[in-house]
Amino acid sequence: MMSRRQFSVLNAGALLASALPRAASANSKTFPYAEFEQRIARKDFRDITKDVLPTPSMVVDLDMFEKNVKTMADYGKSAPILLRPHVKVHKSVDVAKRQVALGAIGVTTATIAESELMSNAGIKGVLWTKQPASHNNIVRTINLTKRDPSFMFVVDDPTIAGWVEEAAAAAKVKCRVAVSVFAGLKRQGIENGKPAVDLAKRILASKHMQLEGFMAYSGDASHTKTWAARRKRTEMDLAGVQETVALARKDGLPVPIVSGGSTGTYNMDKDFGLTELECGSYVFMDSAYQRVGGKTNDAVYTDFENSLTVLVTVDHKLHPSLVTTDYGNKAMARPTDMVKGKPWLNVINQGAEYGGLTWKDGGGEIKVGDRLDIYCSNLDTSTNCYDRYYIAKGNQIVDVWPIMGRSGAAQR
Ligand SMILES: Cc1ncc(COP(=O)(O)O)c(C=O)c1O
Repeated sequence: MMSRRQFSVLNAGALLASALPRAASANSKTFPYAEFEQRIARKDFRDITKDVLPTPSMVVDLDMFEKNVKTMADYGKSAPILLRPHVKVHKSVDVAKRQVALGAIGVTTATIAESELMSNAGIKGVLWTKQPASHNNIVRTINLTKRDPSFMFVVDDPTIAGWVEEAAAAAKVKCRVAVSVFAGLKRQGIENGKPAVDLAKRILASKHMQLEGFMAYSGDASHTKTWAARRKRTEMDLAGVQETVALARKDGLPVPIVSGGSTGTYNMDKDFGLTELECGSYVFMDSAYQRVGGKTNDAVYTDFENSLTVLVTVDHKLHPSLVTTDYGNKAMARPTDMVKGKPWLNVINQGAEYGGLTWKDGGGEIKVGDRLDIYCSNLDTSTNCYDRYYIAKGNQIVDVWPIMGRSGAAQR
């Protein structure tokens, strides 16, 4: 038996080359582990393949991603409808710039931090879909408006409109504001009809706010299963919004923007009065969207490719029909996740850094050291936990895109 000292003096390289899983051992001769982060920073990706990435890591298939961005851009042009894609799913300037390059008129954001990140990166036409209700958020909203007059945000509460007006007056800026109206989701949106139009009139009459129109996110419609049922739900959830817009126009209010929509409803939203789409998930897709069904296929949503996977490693195989992975709670593992190419595997949670895969039939071929690609269930929450996307062409990493850049993680 080898002593600990004998073990430590062994040539580590030789040991690695003989003991590593096959895919990794081919690379271990050349892969500069010690320099990994410097190589990433220099964008020197020679020998950096999926096999040598740390796990769990998010990996984006570049070809599929580009196809998704183009599919939506082409739809926008042909419909026609404007695109202001939501960045909450990717939080990446690199992704946003590619969306803008193909014609998006700006981006939609969920937090002030996302808005700052995108605007500071030079992206114009940022629309923040939450109202600034804290002192912190109001100050940052006013400061961002000063730096970037193309920045817009929403309000659904006359009190907040008052606070914004006061802060904007003190800073001598004019804020671009849309009224957030109810579209089926109880989390936000003022009541349609008179209350919404009165708030719009108040903004129009104010000195330091400019009325941009309405924002109406029908989030419950987005994941309604089957295209036909989704269309019905969208029609129902946007009926009040259409009435509000008609009433506002009748009263002579300018309504240049009626923003909303989602990946699930992108090809129906225009029919119910939206002038621009806030779709986000289509760039990567997740397992929740895979199940909603498309226009031509009720079972699977094939409009966009599943370009993002989480690469994980099988760490233990000690019990029948179960392996343990490094894809645990901290990596946002969920039982509704799916394993690419192995639909018989079930994802389970086993702890903060421990996940698992179970199976009834098949699955016996899963071995310790295997690397698997997981489709996560909900992009928004998953991407929030990772710091970068490894961009792959086949097995080769060709780029790395940071998630959230240097913007404050606390306010992601
Ligand atoms: C306000 C708003 N608009 C648009 C979207 C985009 O939806 P999806 O990612 O389903 O395309 C979201 C997603 O949650 C949202 O919160």
